[in-house]
Amino acid sequence: MARINENYLKLPGSYLFSAIGEKVRRYEALHPEADVIRLGIGDVTLPIAPKIIEALHAAVTEMGEADSFRGYAPDLGYDFLRNEIARKDYQEKGCRISPDEIFVSDGAKCDCANIQEIFGTDNVIGVCDPVYPVYVDSNVMAGRTGEYDACSGRYRGVIYMPCTAENGFVPELPAEVPDLIYLCFPNNPTGAVMTKEKLQGWVDYAKAHDSVILYDAAYEAYISEPGIPHSIYECDGARECAVEFRSFSKTAGFTGLRLGFTVIPKELEAGGIRLHPLWARRHGTKYNGAPYIIQRAGEAVYSEKGQQQIREQIAWYMGNAGIISEGLQAAGYRVSGGVNAPYIWLAVPEGMTDWEFFDFLLEKANVVGTPGSGFGPGGAGYFRLTAFGNREKTIEAMERIRSI
Ligand SMILES: Cc1ncc(COP(=O)(O)O)c(C=O)c1O
Repeated sequence: MARINENYLKLPGSYLFSAIGEKVRRYEALHPEADVIRLGIGDVTLPIAPKIIEALHAAVTEMGEADSFRGYAPDLGYDFLRNEIARKDYQEKGCRISPDEIFVSDGAKCDCANIQEIFGTDNVIGVCDPVYPVYVDSNVMAGRTGEYDACSGRYRGVIYMPCTAENGFVPELPAEVPDLIYLCFPNNPTGAVMTKEKLQGWVDYAKAHDSVILYDAAYEAYISEPGIPHSIYECDGARECAVEFRSFSKTAGFTGLRLGFTVIPKELEAGGIRLHPLWARRHGTKYNGAPYIIQRAGEAVYSEKGQQQIREQIAWYMGNAGIISEGLQAAGYRVSGGVNAPYIWLAVPEGMTDWEFFDFLLEKANVVGTPGSGFGPGGAGYFRLTAFGNREKTIEAMERIRSI
């Protein structure tokens, strides 16, 4: 008799954004005249930059000609892309990472969900609270957690590392030591960043306890202030204790094209076993490579023109972030994030839960955001807005919120 993976039954309800989508659809069905502005999901809205489109066209043409047609891509990525990543994202910034330590993929979500497969199911994970839900849910599916406790909103057997207004939404080093530590900075959902000194503290902690840090740097391109590390490999000793995930989604608008990569330094070990060959084995067995045309588009991101064009896009989104932060503050909200990250994190008004605030904003301003508790119990009482919307709509959303 076939049996299911019962760990899936521990997962409560639907994925956060499906639940929000359903609520908005119901509202729109009842109020077809409403002009709803979506500042909830973290999806980009600007079209792909011209230099990247040019590379896509050229690659498509190559695929239609016998002497330049390409079939399966190398499992770990084409050298032309891995070389550019290693050089421009790491070596030129003082990080010792070689091209063969880069594993190209179709995005950071899959990588940060799949990486746990190469670790034993008896590892204890540590996650920020609130947190990007994929880290926790993928470990639940793998059986690395206990049951979900509806009262606390937490899974048993997971170390939650609170990120609060008091600690600037940057977790303290936990007293109970996790084997696998998920960190994401700049952070989704809070928009917080970690200084290099703080991150060095985490690297030292992980090394002292033989833990592995799984560092999600999907938003590094949004860092605008000095002193904030773009990569964990800026820290001494990180090659021996950290994996890093990167994404082209928010950096270059690839949410629909799909491209990302994972970095695993060769000396990184768990229990005396190197992780690099394990991930190479996993990748080679379960993944057939990101498409050639998309990897060529990725290569164009690193060209001089490509860099200039994506920088302009990021600056444009961060212009939205400034409008949201200022608009909310003018309306009397307590706000953080939005400086080195495209996310603005606001405290909901006293006397309301974050889901009540969601309904309030949808009904009174026709603006959609994301309730903080959707990212874990530590997000309760907070709300996330994103800077990825259209400029006029973002301005209008702030005007509507101010006039409620
Ligand atoms: C923290 C974080 N990591 C990873 C991802 C997923 O990135 P990708 O589109 O490359 O799968 C997201 C997307 O929202 C994210 O917020």
